[in-house]
Amino acid sequence: MTKPVVFITRNDFPCIMNELLKEKFQVKCWSEKKLTKSQFLENIKGVFGIICSPSNKIDKEILDVAGNTLKVVSTFSVGYDHINVKDVKAYGIRIGHTPDVLTESTAEYGVGLLLTISRRIIESHLSIHKNEWTTDVWTPMYMCGQGLENSVVGIVGCGRIGTSVAKKVKAFNIKRLLYYNRKEKQEVANLGGELKPIDELIRESDFIIVTISLNEETKGIINKERINLMKSNAIFVNIARGAIVDQKALTEVLQNKKIAGAGLDVFETEPIDTNDPLLKLNNVVITAHIASATFHVRNKMAEVAAKNVIAVLENRDMVAEIQ
Ligand code: DGY
Repeated sequence: MTKPVVFITRNDFPCIMNELLKEKFQVKCWSEKKLTKSQFLENIKGVFGIICSPSNKIDKEILDVAGNTLKVVSTFSVGYDHINVKDVKAYGIRIGHTPDVLTESTAEYGVGLLLTISRRIIESHLSIHKNEWTTDVWTPMYMCGQGLENSVVGIVGCGRIGTSVAKKVKAFNIKRLLYYNRKEKQEVANLGGELKPIDELIRESDFIIVTISLNEETKGIINKERINLMKSNAIFVNIARGAIVDQKALTEVLQNKKIAGAGLDVFETEPIDTNDPLLKLNNVVITAHIASATFHVRNKMAEVAAKNVIAVLENRDMVAEIQ
């Protein structure tokens, strides 16, 4: 009997994915550089499953071309804003994603970015390379930044990752922990977290970390008006999705030094253009959507993504299914 086909949109997922799938499936893996939409369409007719990443849009066209053999879309990510969930569900196709395994690595990265910018770690590093550490062995006010101690930290979105950020920043003896969420989160309230309307959180926080997931309601939630509410010493970190923030308005306040700095791992368009004005600012640290990227976590994500597909074949519960 021929095995059902799983199409994987790239060939650099950790090998555990293939190892888990190959017994039960014929694995068809895209092995060239970047899969274009037309190449995607050419390769999915008659497949049982698709394993994709946030780079691959899953829309009605994909579903129509794949046809009624398609039973599962499994994304190698916790975020699923690249999948048109309503359409996929309407076709009776199940959707898997990879939450939990990446919570800690993503949250620790958010705190890392926050410290990198607030304590000017990269600025200091680059300054030495530019031979600017010349005045003295040690200079009292050189590269002073802001510490977390006694500060107000605001977390936008308190799901798994936001909650983990809350626990981590609590260890820095902060003064207040604010969070914006649809409803109160007991775990965060137990840490002294105060549930706040978003404007209030933005107005009062010294550090703002965005961990909210992207959907129709949260798209552009950090808009120009809200960006202009930030304190002049505010440090802004985004480890969620670029489309949550008005990037142009954020760039402007950073250029004009209306806020202290930003640590950004996600952008409206990825990869970010190397001519983007954000790259010219020394109060901004830019990284390449790598918040969850540890070896351990990426292997786990591959395992979960494969197991989600196998679960559909075996008509079982997925490790993590989008309902
Ligand atoms: C996710 O999982 O959604 C990340 O943004 C990519 O790993």
